[in-house]
Amino acid sequence: MKIIKRKNILKIAIDSPAAAGAGTLAKAISKHYKLYYLDTGKIYRYIAYHKLKFPKKYNQNYIRSKIKSLKINYLSNKFLLSDQVGIEASLISKIKNLRKIVHNFQLDFAYNPPKKYKGSCLDGRDITYKIVPDADFKFYITANIKTRAKRRFKELKKLNKKISYTEVLKSIKKRDKNDFKRKISPLKKTKDSLLINTTNLTKRACFLKIKKIIDRKLYN
Ligand code: C5P
Repeated sequence: MKIIKRKNILKIAIDSPAAAGAGTLAKAISKHYKLYYLDTGKIYRYIAYHKLKFPKKYNQNYIRSKIKSLKINYLSNKFLLSDQVGIEASLISKIKNLRKIVHNFQLDFAYNPPKKYKGSCLDGRDITYKIVPDADFKFYITANIKTRAKRRFKELKKLNKKISYTEVLKSIKKRDKNDFKRKISPLKKTKDSLLINTTNLTKRACFLKIKKIIDRKLYN
């Protein structure tokens, strides 16, 4: 598939470990700058969900057909948010062929957003160096592990998921290990990404920090 690239669009690439607040920030930034937003983790979660739900059907052709017919609104399904799906996503996302299948979906999203958007914003694990290496802005968003676990625990509680803080902490540690240590597309901070540590910052403060960086380059 040949990817059409729209000219003169603003592209923002974000990488981050699980539950660091990147999604919330990316959404706010996308809204502010009218960017087409994709939480790429949801694609892996979508595949993981199908693997868990239909293990007998699950194979490469099945994944291919799921990605071919994938619509952005399928990714807001709340079933994708569970911890079990998150862990499975971090396991299947190590598979090279699977990453190849989802590659073009992400490229098309990043480089050819619908006309009503001024550009795109993607967050994930390999966005800054593999999916959108020529992004206008690159951020690595992180927070200390206990803060991340607390935030994820609160989110899951809101969704009425039966899980303890200790279990959430354990699963985030497991996912970090999978994401940082894997050979294919590991999570890393590239030299050209700006580090944003959200541990002691409110959502608003994080947003303003990023906005300041973007505005300085865009309007000066
Ligand atoms: O971002 P989220 O926690 O929803 O991602 C679920 C999993 O999908 C991650 O733990 C990671 O293993 C995988 N992922 C990935 N590459 C991306 C985004 C997510 O491997 N670009």
